[in-house]
Amino acid sequence: MSHPLFIYFLISISLCNGCTAHRYTFTVKEVPYTKLCSTKKILTVNGQFPGQTLKVYKGDTIYVNVRNRASQNITMHWHGVEQPRNPWSDGPEYITQCPIRPGSDFIYEVIFSIEDTTVWWHAHSSWTRATVHGLIFVYPRPPTSLPFPKSDHEIPLIFGEWWKKDVREVVERFRRTGDEPNVSDALTINGHPGFLYPCSKSDTFELMVEKSKTYRIRMVNSAMNLILFFAIAKHSLTVVAADGHYTKPLNSTYITISPGQTLDLLLHADQNPKHTYYMAARAYHSNPGINFDNSTTIGILRYTSSTSSSSKHYPNLPYYNDTAAAFRFYTNIKSLYSGQVPVKISRRIISTVSINLLPCPNDSCQGPNGSRLAASMNNISFVTPNHVDILKAYYYHIKGVYGTRFPEFPPLLFNFTAEDPPLFLQTPRLATEVKMIKYGEAIEIVLQGTSLVGGGIDHPMHLHGFSFYVVGVGFGNYNVTEDPSNYNLEDPPYRNTATVPRNGWVAIRFIAENPGVWFMHCHFDRHLSWGMNVVFIVQNGRGLDQHILPPPPNLPLCY
Ligand code: C2O
Ligand code: CU
Repeated sequence: MSHPLFIYFLISISLCNGCTAHRYTFTVKEVPYTKLCSTKKILTVNGQFPGQTLKVYKGDTIYVNVRNRASQNITMHWHGVEQPRNPWSDGPEYITQCPIRPGSDFIYEVIFSIEDTTVWWHAHSSWTRATVHGLIFVYPRPPTSLPFPKSDHEIPLIFGEWWKKDVREVVERFRRTGDEPNVSDALTINGHPGFLYPCSKSDTFELMVEKSKTYRIRMVNSAMNLILFFAIAKHSLTVVAADGHYTKPLNSTYITISPGQTLDLLLHADQNPKHTYYMAARAYHSNPGINFDNSTTIGILRYTSSTSSSSKHYPNLPYYNDTAAAFRFYTNIKSLYSGQVPVKISRRIISTVSINLLPCPNDSCQGPNGSRLAASMNNISFVTPNHVDILKAYYYHIKGVYGTRFPEFPPLLFNFTAEDPPLFLQTPRLATEVKMIKYGEAIEIVLQGTSLVGGGIDHPMHLHGFSFYVVGVGFGNYNVTEDPSNYNLEDPPYRNTATVPRNGWVAIRFIAENPGVWFMHCHFDRHLSWGMNVVFIVQNGRGLDQHILPPPPNLPLCY
């Protein structure tokens, strides 16, 4: 290992309390929670919001029995877990399975392989993930140890979005009207909105630290529709991992985190212990023409020794639309290891990611000009099957469920990021088209944002079944002859969710060595609901160990 950080390998031995349980029971049920002075029933796992943290060693396989004792369908996804050859337990509804119906059970087999740090789990049926989510801590398998200094404690930190209404009502309304969904009423840290919201003084997350100790924050952005900025007053943070993979240590006074992304951060408790320090998160939102929840969630950091807290410090967050700050952070993240990126690719797929409009009879919808909001990739607004899932259709050769003609390039070339693109470009095609990939192909995917409908917005794009290298990010139209020469093929971040900037593009690379049916979608749930999705089917390779595993028993029935 020729890396300057190798000495750290000698220092820390990690201990994972609770790593021996390889079977879990997730009972999904509705329980009442009160926030912002109003009570509603939310969907939970085992009654907890946010849900419990799972702890595993690298390479473990765990079994999670999901028992649906609620009144709505559910599926579970293990976000960031590659699940080699095992799409059966990946979770997206009608992509790899039919939903678990109320009263039914399904045991997920979650196979960890290359994941090193923090990933997470969440529901993957309609908007149920709003309250059904939790972290997964991965520990190095002894005697391996962490490539960064040992921390004294681990702090789970989960960002969420809270609606006072039942989330089902929010979904029902925007599906019916064709309009934007209602924005959330609060952001939360570990379920707590914080004292800036009504009735929330005692519903504020508090972190007690001891002077001179180091804390490892294991963080996920589980918000439904918001990229977030986060900072802690007077304390800089050191990023040591992103999306389950080690990074070069990066010091920053703030962080940017997209829905779906995880970060491991070291917090050094090195400030005056008599003072109180606030932490805060709020939206990064690049298009002022689109409504968003612009509120701020606050948490408190206190030192154990502090008696009277004389001074209080608030953090500085970049402004809502500070795209430069958002992407400076993203692009400053580098893989710990160099030289692992596929340098030669066998295939470059270019796809637009776009907001669209669908016409309504007599302009009767409540989207722009009486139309219905939609979203697409390469102008196909993905239609999710609703009787049988794509994996089952593929495995058992059931015809008529999906087509294999997802275009490799945008079907129409136009100035994707023009200020006033022609209106006829706004209408997408509705279809269920997948992209077939041969086992072992070296794939590059370029995702190109467009300015269609309201001038564009960022898109946190997530791929199931793989981590990928984010080799390039840029603004404006992707230029296939010039942009690849500016790629980082040395140490780009290895992630599972990459953000396409507003009216810009992102390029990712991976080797398709995981046979299966893998969903790719925007991790803004409203865009996912509108069809900003595609499915990759990676075919079996030659060897038997390059085949999809056989289906597990008791897959939820489709009907
Ligand atoms: Cu975090 Cu398709 O999911
Ligand atoms: Cu999006």
